[in-house]
Amino acid sequence: MGNVFVLNHPLIQHKLTYIRDKNTGTKEFRELVDEVSMLMAFEITRELPLKEITVETPVTEAKAHILSGKKIGLIPILRAGLGMVDGMLNLLPAARVGHVGLYRDPETLKPVEYYIKLPSDIAERKLIVLDPMLATGGSANDAIDSLKKRGAKSISLMCLIAAPEGVELIKENHPDVDIYLGGLDEKLNEKGYIVPGLGDAGDRLYGTK
Ligand code: PRP
Ligand code: URA
Repeated sequence: MGNVFVLNHPLIQHKLTYIRDKNTGTKEFRELVDEVSMLMAFEITRELPLKEITVETPVTEAKAHILSGKKIGLIPILRAGLGMVDGMLNLLPAARVGHVGLYRDPETLKPVEYYIKLPSDIAERKLIVLDPMLATGGSANDAIDSLKKRGAKSISLMCLIAAPEGVELIKENHPDVDIYLGGLDEKLNEKGYIVPGLGDAGDRLYGTK
């Protein structure tokens, strides 16, 4: 069964508070999402496997460690997931990036896929799906379906804020997927927005309405 981790690091929680604040403008919002994504990347890579190598220091030979195991693939869900990519790449500069374009139909709240472009070797990579919001869970669920259909075998999901409904949907449909969150909120409102949430992540990142 996939695990759900709420990343309680004080810096993540501090910055998330300003991301939630409706008085935070577009520029600052974008910067904060970038910073929180980098901090979350630090937390979720704790368990990456290492291998021992020998390195020559200026003094002597030393046994030391470097990353081993699967390479990483970052999969932002367009649009809002794009805001999390650069922060992640700061710490994982060799990661490949695949894009899944989905929007949520405002009437039905069902996701509609309009774009997909992935690295050719997704089956060999550890994929991290990025989206600031996990609301009904429909978008992340469909993105994960799409990745699995194309051969992906190792997938995690990283979101800034989730509603319990979205977490339950992913746990039920994709029990192999670990979920990493900055915050787990109370509920969805009648329009499918997370309460208390942060509003519309795409609009706040890009200054649209
Ligand atoms: C938002 C958000 C998620 C989705 C979450 O995207 O970025 O992708 O809604 O909702 P769900 O869990 O109920 O599917 P939106 O559809 O607003 O598209 P955008 O990023 O292009 O603005
Ligand atoms: N999408 C958003 O951007 N915000 C929400 O609260 C729910 C879906």
